[in-house]
Amino acid sequence: MNLVLVGAQWGDEGKGKVIDVLAAEADVLIRYQGGPNAGHTVIVEDEEFIFHTIPSGLLHPGKIGVIGNGVVIDPAALLEEIARLRARGIDVERALKISDQAHLIFPYHTRLDAAEEARRASATMLGGSATECGGGPIGTTGRGIGPCYVDKVARCGIRVADLMDDAAFREKLRRNVEEKNRVLRLLYGAPPVEFEAIASQYRAYRDALRPFVVNGVRFLHDLRQQGKRLLFEGAQGTLLDVDHGTYPYVTSSNATAGGACTGAGVPPTSIDRVIGVVKAYTTRVGEGPLPTEFPALLMEQIRTKGKEFGATTGRPRRCGWFDAVVARHAVWVNGCDAIAVTKLDVLDAMPAVQICVGYRDGAQPLDEFPSNTAQLGRCAPVYETLPGWQSDTSEIDRFDDLPAAAQRYLRRLEALLGVPICLISTGSKREQAFKVGPWSLSSTT
Ligand code: GDP
Ligand code: IMO
Ligand code: MG
Repeated sequence: MNLVLVGAQWGDEGKGKVIDVLAAEADVLIRYQGGPNAGHTVIVEDEEFIFHTIPSGLLHPGKIGVIGNGVVIDPAALLEEIARLRARGIDVERALKISDQAHLIFPYHTRLDAAEEARRASATMLGGSATECGGGPIGTTGRGIGPCYVDKVARCGIRVADLMDDAAFREKLRRNVEEKNRVLRLLYGAPPVEFEAIASQYRAYRDALRPFVVNGVRFLHDLRQQGKRLLFEGAQGTLLDVDHGTYPYVTSSNATAGGACTGAGVPPTSIDRVIGVVKAYTTRVGEGPLPTEFPALLMEQIRTKGKEFGATTGRPRRCGWFDAVVARHAVWVNGCDAIAVTKLDVLDAMPAVQICVGYRDGAQPLDEFPSNTAQLGRCAPVYETLPGWQSDTSEIDRFDDLPAAAQRYLRRLEALLGVPICLISTGSKREQAFKVGPWSLSSTT
């Protein structure tokens, strides 16, 4: 059975943790979009590992990880991650493959990312309504993700296969550097990048990455023919998807389940199941609406208990109550067969818990996710309040052993989303998770 796992909120749902748990039953782990903007945390035996570009799950011995064509790769960041895995005794040369169709991030992409954010920020300061119109900063991770995907779509990007062809690479890089330097200078007044320095740096990256490069379509086709079990790992989350998220406060790729096919080069018929991951509450990093955002005191309490600081940038995450309108939107877009709920333990001390079951735009009730992001920004949540459980869930490993109020909360989420819960996580460690129902990647149906 092949399974896609996606974030069903604004990212950081605990995908890395859940992938690490499910990876025990998979043969091949595949990233299909995003890049080093992702930070997926796995904690094994008290040691923390944060995956950025490499699929989470490679801490299990014997697995194969694939970085698909839809991922954007910063070679410096990737090589650093490879070195960290090697230091943990992982045979990375055997375990990791990189699609030759994946696009590369260059220093001009990170510089453009920063320059555009700064321009948006100053436009907001000067111009009043820029933020409401989506003109303010996005709050990107600054990793050059957006500009790299822009080049991909503009058909001037440079792919891994180009890097392997020296003459073609230099020519493409020269054209890009010339063009980007014009934009940096004329539009942003930013310093230029230097062609020869980048060319020689990337020549070294080419030699280091060559052993990992494969034709991704062929590689995955062969593994599927051999009956290997594939586990696709979405980065970011549905509400950060460039089509289905809170545009323009999104990332620049398709973080939803559909992205797995285009971003890995596998047919839709090869996907058997989709699992969405949600936190038991909601978080978001960066700008954009978050209807259920907590007031200051509760924000501080949950942020501290949930350690809600970005795994990539260290920025504090904004936190709020569970938003069932958002999560149901995600269930529909991704076709989730089930959901995994993480961080239930973070709500343990709450005397009462709230779930957003709809919105109100002024006097107008809304029960579906609005496409107009400015309207979402205006919406007030309509809450349902349930009793809290006020007891420790972090050691529990069976649904039936959860406090009755926690069971009730989770059953209510299932009812609101219309799908069953298949896994519950009650702590950051690998052992702090248990399955609900008869789910297995090994089953053929
Ligand atoms: P991802 O981007 O979706 O992989 O999530 P991140 O790794 O960015 O953020 C999730 C954070 O929550 C990490 O620090 C995890 O170690 C932690 N975490 C995951 N599951 C749980 C859980 O059930 N309980 C608690 N307390 N922490 C968790
Ligand atoms: P994982 O995979 C949470 C957010 C950024 C910003 C917006 C655009 O760990 O869940 P980008 O740098 O992609 O152009 O930033 O998207 N963002 C994430 N938020 N988790 C992530 O990844 C994110 N990746 C990007 O904060 O709001
Ligand atoms: Mg993360």
